[in-house]
Amino acid sequence: MDDKQLDRQYVENTYARQDLLLDHGKGALVWDENGREYIDLGSGIGVNALGHADEGWLQAVTGQLKKLAHTSNLYYTAPCARLAEELCTRTGQEKAFFCNSGAEANECAIKAARKYSFTHYGAGRHVIVTLQNSFHGRTMATLSATGQDVFHRHFDPFPEGFRYAPANDLAGTLAALRGDVCALLFEPIQGEGGVVELDHGYLQKLAAACREQDILLIADEVQTGIGRTGKLLGCEHSGVRPDIVTLAKGLGGGLPIGAALFGERAAGTLQAGDHGSTFGGNPAVCAGACAVLRRLDDGFLAEVEKKGDYLRGRLLATPNVREVSGRGLMLGVALREGISPAEVVKAAIAKGVIPLTAHERLRLLPPLVITGGELTRASDILCDVIAGF
Ligand SMILES: Cc1ncc(COP(=O)(O)O)c(C=O)c1O
Repeated sequence: MDDKQLDRQYVENTYARQDLLLDHGKGALVWDENGREYIDLGSGIGVNALGHADEGWLQAVTGQLKKLAHTSNLYYTAPCARLAEELCTRTGQEKAFFCNSGAEANECAIKAARKYSFTHYGAGRHVIVTLQNSFHGRTMATLSATGQDVFHRHFDPFPEGFRYAPANDLAGTLAALRGDVCALLFEPIQGEGGVVELDHGYLQKLAAACREQDILLIADEVQTGIGRTGKLLGCEHSGVRPDIVTLAKGLGGGLPIGAALFGERAAGTLQAGDHGSTFGGNPAVCAGACAVLRRLDDGFLAEVEKKGDYLRGRLLATPNVREVSGRGLMLGVALREGISPAEVVKAAIAKGVIPLTAHERLRLLPPLVITGGELTRASDILCDVIAGF
């Protein structure tokens, strides 16, 4: 049996995999097992911020692995402490909790919001308002938080205490913020929901309403964070400062990590014994994350914005493209009615570029380090494929 057949036989079939076995990569390029080259426009779903096999990241991770790979959270380690400091300093938050994925980061945020409210107001004020069309993860609580019915089939009963409000509808969302609400959870750009950006005025008004009612504002920046949109956090575009920020994907540069950052109001809510994770804050992963953050200076982020503008321009000039949503290197492409994004992905892979889909859209999340030349080549191929449908 070859490796694809082995996978189909022995891996639980929860993913509709492309017919592609990837073997190695460098920067924004990856190669399959036969040595065929592809330009990666997906970054492992927004994870490989520095692309594949980045030298600085490799050195940071392997250097730490040679010293100490894992300690548990019973002890201090320098990479964990330094990553927390760097994240807090650069985002204006006060404390960090580390875990292993986006869903876990959101679980932590949900627990912190419930405890904050319980501590200040007692029982009964535990509802988390989330938005329709959102995606927050695959654990039971984060599925419950996810405002898309398609994810809710087969898995009842779900944890209670979530209420869905209509995204980008100010009156509808304000109406959901009743006396039993402890937090509002939102993605600045709904990624899995089709790359739908929340209006900045809407977010600013919600932030003000939440502050007035001491409702915690939780930004799920699992997909939008870590430079993806051309700013360190997606929220910076609207100027909204959340009470809790959740991160994952791009933070580890390819290794699993999640983080919940707590601002002034929420910091200190979770105390010893309230929450934990055996692998959270793993020193090798944190060392890699520090290397990712070191690269994301203002110049690097400005380049992300420029690259995104180029890609958007190329797509908008392409027949069969109706609209391009998103920011920076997080773009959603609405195609002419009747064109299947999944079919476009297949055709693009056959020509040597690897895009993604999200809902009814094509989704592009290239490595942030993609070069101008690679971006031009990828745009030539992808736009040609789209135009040919
Ligand atoms: C906005 C958002 N939140 C949470 C998650 C869940 O992250 P993970 O798959 O790391 O648990 C995702 C994953 O796509 C996401 O896009």
